[in-house]
Amino acid sequence: MDKIVSLCKRRGLIFQSSEVYGGLSNTWDYGPYGVELKNNLKKAWWKSVVYERDDIFGMDAAILMHPKVWEASGHLENFFDLKSDCKSCKKRFKAADLQDKKICPECGGELTEARPFNLMFETYQGPVKDDSNKIYLRPETAQGMFVNFQNILDSRHPKLPFGLAQIGKAFRNEITPGNFTFRTREFEQMEIEYFVKPSDADKKLEEWIDYRFSWYLGLGLKKENLRKRPHGKDELAHYAKACTDIEYNFPFGWSELEGIANRTDFDLKQHAKVSGKDLQYFDDAAKERFYPYIIEPSGGVDRSVLAFLVDAYKEEKVKDDTRVVLSLHKDLAPTKVAVLPLLRNRPEIVGLAKKIAQDLKKSFVTVYDDTGAIGKLYRRQDEVGTLYCITVDVQTLEDKQVTVRDRDTMQQERISIDSLKKYLLEKLACS
Ligand code: GAP
Repeated sequence: MDKIVSLCKRRGLIFQSSEVYGGLSNTWDYGPYGVELKNNLKKAWWKSVVYERDDIFGMDAAILMHPKVWEASGHLENFFDLKSDCKSCKKRFKAADLQDKKICPECGGELTEARPFNLMFETYQGPVKDDSNKIYLRPETAQGMFVNFQNILDSRHPKLPFGLAQIGKAFRNEITPGNFTFRTREFEQMEIEYFVKPSDADKKLEEWIDYRFSWYLGLGLKKENLRKRPHGKDELAHYAKACTDIEYNFPFGWSELEGIANRTDFDLKQHAKVSGKDLQYFDDAAKERFYPYIIEPSGGVDRSVLAFLVDAYKEEKVKDDTRVVLSLHKDLAPTKVAVLPLLRNRPEIVGLAKKIAQDLKKSFVTVYDDTGAIGKLYRRQDEVGTLYCITVDVQTLEDKQVTVRDRDTMQQERISIDSLKKYLLEKLACS
């Protein structure tokens, strides 16, 4: 994991937040290549769950919601961890991690009794900080979709089964964040709420588990690093009847990437009860009103980015050197093309390379770099997963051809400048 953290910093993928002030612990900023990777991941998800299906609508609900939402959802009552504090070193521990130990694992000090600690961040709306203005940063994006269920029925008139999808920030005051971007207090979720007839729920749950599992495989995660793990009854969230996690074999062990749950009619019924609005679905054919069940595939953007980084990281021996390469899937690679002049002291070569880069930028995410010798420039691009490096050399000036180098095979081909765009379009066609 240390190698991934160091690569992320060295190459501008992920930085510690507020680093100039010593950093805010367990909070991370995505740099120039990181934001591209993250955006590509979100685009791939949106394409797979919204654009390629005809039963899912996209949404983008607000982070701040009416406080009653959290009363209805059960988060005010149930969304807490039991924690103990060390009376000496003041460190805070999740009771579950202590496994009944009575002394502090760090300093041997005395621990307080385990107490519930609500994971929601509180804030105040408006200038007056009193309880009547207290609101919360959402701990999941899901509720923004449940409370819009009726709006979607009225505006789009969908028939069951149908779903809503959104990507957005969520906040949890985690007691034990850590493992780089794996568990943080501010993170992004990509969630689907799929409304089904109660009698179809078990079947749809299985379909969604398979659909989401294949998505990770399709974008290149190695099969041996991915598994499905059904939850035991004692692990289920307060709203779930069944849940299966898709887990990835991270350097710190198998851990959850995404949970796919059968939330039953819990959420719609709760919001109907607390808001006083009828949130039932009317089935025209059967002439009956009922609360649909909800199947929820809920994944983490940051966790997925981390899994794809870990999975793609390779060290290869090349002659006497070690090449670090991020073999990311072409749809995820932050940069598709790099244009590199072989001689940076020859204005004709530099000028032509810059022109080629400028032309390619209209079609692909392209960078231009002339700040080192070619070997060094190749290594830099390999480390951020750039798919094709194009070099412009003396011969290019005569034959109007460039060298195109493939990231994974390192094989090189001479391609004419005129057919370069077509060549790359074919290679990079979206999956
Ligand atoms: N709406 C259901 C829900 O929020 P969850 O299992 O608590 O379920 C879903 O969260 C996903 O969100 C997780 O599988 C994980 O990928 C991501 N996630 C949850 N807590 C996180 C945290 N503290 N840091 C990073 N990602 C987190």
